[in-house]
Amino acid sequence: MKIAVYPGSFDPITFGHIDIIERAVTLFDKVIVTVSQNFEKTPWFTAAERCEMIKDSVSGLANCEVDHFKGLLVDYVSRMHGTAIIRGLRALSDFEFEFKMALMNRSLAEDITTVFMMPHARYTHVSSSLVREVAGLGGDVSMLVPDHVARMLKKKLA
Ligand code: COA
Repeated sequence: MKIAVYPGSFDPITFGHIDIIERAVTLFDKVIVTVSQNFEKTPWFTAAERCEMIKDSVSGLANCEVDHFKGLLVDYVSRMHGTAIIRGLRALSDFEFEFKMALMNRSLAEDITTVFMMPHARYTHVSSSLVREVAGLGGDVSMLVPDHVARMLKKKLA
């Protein structure tokens, strides 16, 4: 069974992330979308809230699971019997950070491969922080996130 892990902050999940997940589930037997800790970010949503929003977004995908973890990503992937880490690449600006992270993860665990996937061009400008900024300023995020995420953003801001 080919298992891939898609880690990220998902603060919150966007249509760009969902696009990557929908592509990944066609390539792997199981895709685990996991909310991870990024030490450089202070999230708006708790890990439980982020998992809930992801679950609601992927409920139609039979081979997709949602989880969260703390600690080293490669240790988590090994525990889950995964062989691949999925990362989305939107623009060249993502590359340097992703390249370093992929090489670091490979040096930590040679048997785990990072697979880069491109979301649809319509999502290349989408990021969670922009979604939070637009929502925070009262803008319309309906083109960027599912309705249930837009509702969670409103609730958080209220
Ligand atoms: N569509 C839309 N947006 C996307 C996207 C897509 N397909 N892919 C990435 N993004 C955005 C995210 O929304 C996020 O935007 P933001 O910066 O405005 O919040 C940004 O791109 C990158 O975020 P994300 O993909 O969530 O990665 P991250 O940098 O927050 O997370 C971890 C990186 C969590 C995977 C990494 O820190 C990690 O592995 N942590 C565990 C500890 C560890 O093992 N560290 C060693 C790593 S070498």
